[in-house]
Parts: sequence; structure tokens; C-alpha cells
Amino acid sequence: MRTQVLIIGSGPSGLLLGQLLTKAGIDNIILDRVGKEYILGRVRAGVLEWGTVGLIDEAGAGRRMHAEGLPHDGFSLAFDGRDHRIDLYGLTGKKVMVYGQTEVTRDLMEAREASGAVTLYDAHNVEPHDFDGAAPYVTYEMDGVTHRIDCDFIAGCDGFHGASRKAVPENAIQNFEKIYPFGWLGVLAEIPPVSHELIYANHPRGFALCSMRSPTRSRYYVQCELTDRVENWSDERFFDELRRRLPAEHAEAMVTGPSFEKSIAPLRSFVAEPMRFGRLFLVGDAAHIVPPTGAKGLNLAASDVFYLFEGLREHYGDGSSAGIDVYSERALKRVWKSVRFSWSMTTLMHRFPDTGEFGQKIQEAELDYLTHSTAASTAMAENYVGLPY
Ligand code: APR
Ligand code: PHB
Repeated sequence: MRTQVLIIGSGPSGLLLGQLLTKAGIDNIILDRVGKEYILGRVRAGVLEWGTVGLIDEAGAGRRMHAEGLPHDGFSLAFDGRDHRIDLYGLTGKKVMVYGQTEVTRDLMEAREASGAVTLYDAHNVEPHDFDGAAPYVTYEMDGVTHRIDCDFIAGCDGFHGASRKAVPENAIQNFEKIYPFGWLGVLAEIPPVSHELIYANHPRGFALCSMRSPTRSRYYVQCELTDRVENWSDERFFDELRRRLPAEHAEAMVTGPSFEKSIAPLRSFVAEPMRFGRLFLVGDAAHIVPPTGAKGLNLAASDVFYLFEGLREHYGDGSSAGIDVYSERALKRVWKSVRFSWSMTTLMHRFPDTGEFGQKIQEAELDYLTHSTAASTAMAENYVGLPY
């Protein structure tokens, strides 16, 4: 078998790239080690920058997002018992779209199926080969048989634990990493959100976030110990803890109900440099991870896809390799800015082992400055709605 671009991974990165390529007439095949239902079972963040919204539209997968997604003009920073709104639209002229990543993935999968492009699920032992030369190929196993697909380029869209980054020789890649000493315990429940906008709360007991998936479905988080387990958290305990970390008006107004998903996620910042190795490109979580504070994960994947798509379109359109050659440099510039923003928001909002009373006061002073200075609020809003590509 042969294709122009072999995409490893059918998450949002792989699917978005695949759709853009297919629409531009560039042949591609997606391989994933798991099945469709498994991929759609993953619960992830739910805030899309407007640039991401535009790319999903360009990929022909935006209809349901516009019908069911919730455009938000602002969000709240809660601290010291009060709410302070960041007016995203007023400060930047831009909004964000609250729409679950699982739904983005579903819409992209449906668009791909309608286009007739090939996705091979349950492909095991996927391995990229010879990407240093002019004729790369990928092998995989299915039903006990080893297969081979030859291609022009390999797009490694296979997430943090994927095969693409692992295939790169150790001396050709440099990893930068920061592990945070806490996790997020997240709950999904069929209850109306406590506020029509997101609330990020700093509290001496730890961070909390009130988000949503729809007007009747809430997504809530509390900072927890890394060693904690979901079994320790009944719904009652979760909502008690969440209420304690929110300003009184929200705690009192909060509607509670049984959760249907509960999980603990660790927080990590990670960047691999470079993001190109000959004819292999790393895209999205395969190249970088951010903590979820600020919801940059999917949005960074989308800007990588944009840069790579531009490069590949140029290559196939006018034979120029200029876009491909600058992919890593262009993508990393934006990656590091989002890594910095997610790290800084995480640092500002969470209780660290050494925060103490002094650290708490410093965080509150910074939050007070941030919410009362137009210059500081604008800087935060600009990063939150997404820096330009
Ligand atoms: N072979 C084939 N496929 C693989 C392999 C492998 N060895 N390893 C992983 N995959 C697949 C996974 O099954 C998954 O479907 O690659 C896909 C990677 O998807 P994601 O992890 O969602 O990564 P990405 O598409 O880059 O998405 C970035 O989604 O994961 C969130 O937080 C992340 O929001 C960010 C965005
Ligand atoms: C979510 O809705 O899951 C969400 C929203 C904002 C974040 C992180 C997660 O910063």
C-alpha cells in the first residue's frame, strides 16, 4: 500500500490534519492502535480558541460545533471569597467556544468517514521506518499479519505515549519536562452549570474549576493529591470540597447530582525539540503536553496542524519545501508561549507543598493586580483566547 501522508494517531491532531489534507486533494491514511469507541470514550478539556474553531470549519466539521457549542465572552477568576471577571471579548475582541474535545473528535471522524478517506483502527506495533531518507514507510500488525505502507511523509499524531517520538534516536531529540506535585479530580454530571461562564478558583484548600459541556451538563474539577484515588471521593465529598473552594454565592447556588464520570489526571509540562526529523513530523501531544489550566492542549495541537498543513500544501502545490523546513521552528515558537501561559496559570492558581500563608498572600496579590490592571488583564485575555498563528 502507498499514500502521500501516513498519519499515526486518530486523536484530534491526526483527524484534523487528515481532513485538511483530504480537502486539499492530498492522499492520506490514518493508523490508530485502538478502536473508534475507545477513542470516543476519552474525556478531555472543552475550550476552543477561535483559531481552532476556524480550522475545524475549514476541515468541514464545524456544523454541530456551531449549533451546540457555547461561545463565551469571558471567564471568572475567584479568590479571597469573590469573583472577578476577565472580559475576553471586551479586552481582545475575541471569544472562545466551549465544546467538548470528545465531540470535536466525533465530528472529525464523521467528516472523515463521509469523505471516504481510510482510517485503520486496531493497528498494533505501528513503527515508522527510514524517515531520515527519501522513502519512509510504516509497518503495523493487524490480525496477526504484518503490513507495510510506503509514503512521502509521516505525521506522528500519536499522543504522549505514541510510537513516533520513540522512533527518534535519543541523541537527535531534547526533552524539557516539569511534573507538578498534584492532580485534578474531574467529575461530569447531568446538572446545570453553577455559572454561565467558567470559574477558575484559587483557595487555600486548593484550586477548583467549574466548567461545562452544555446548559444541562457540568464539568467540575478540584485539585487533589497525586496519590489520591477516585474511590476515596464519593459525589457528596466531591461537591462538599468544591463548594468550600468557591465564593459563597456560587456554593449556595450550586445544583448537585450523581456523576457519571470521575477521574484523576496528573499535571505535566513537556516539550520535545525539534518537532521534525527528516520526513517525520511530531504533532500535538506527541511533541508537547501542557497542564489543563487554560485548556491549551487541543488548541496547541491545532496550531501544529495548521503549520504542518501549510507546509505540506506548499510542497504538493508548488514543490517548495520552505514551509516544511520551518515547521518545527514556527510550531515551537507558539508551543513555548502556550507552555509558559499554562505553567504560569497553574502556578498562580494552585496550592503547592511550599505555598504556605506567605505564598497564598502573594498569589492573591497577583490575582488582585491581574484583575484590576487593564494591561495585566489584557495580557491574560490575549493568551487565553489564543495567540495568533
Ligand atoms: N500507534 C498508533 N496509534 C497510537 C499509538 C501507537 N503506538 N499510540 C497512541 N496512538 C493513538 C491513540 O490511540 C490516540 O487515538 O494516537 C492518538 C493520539 O491522540 P491524543 O492523545 O488525543 O493526541 P492528539 O491528537 O495530539 O490530541 C491533542 O488531545 O489528548 C488531548 O490533551 C490533549 O488536548 C490535547 C489534544
Ligand atoms: C473542561 O471543560 O474540561 C476544561 C475547561 C477549561 C480548562 C480545563 C478543562 O482550563
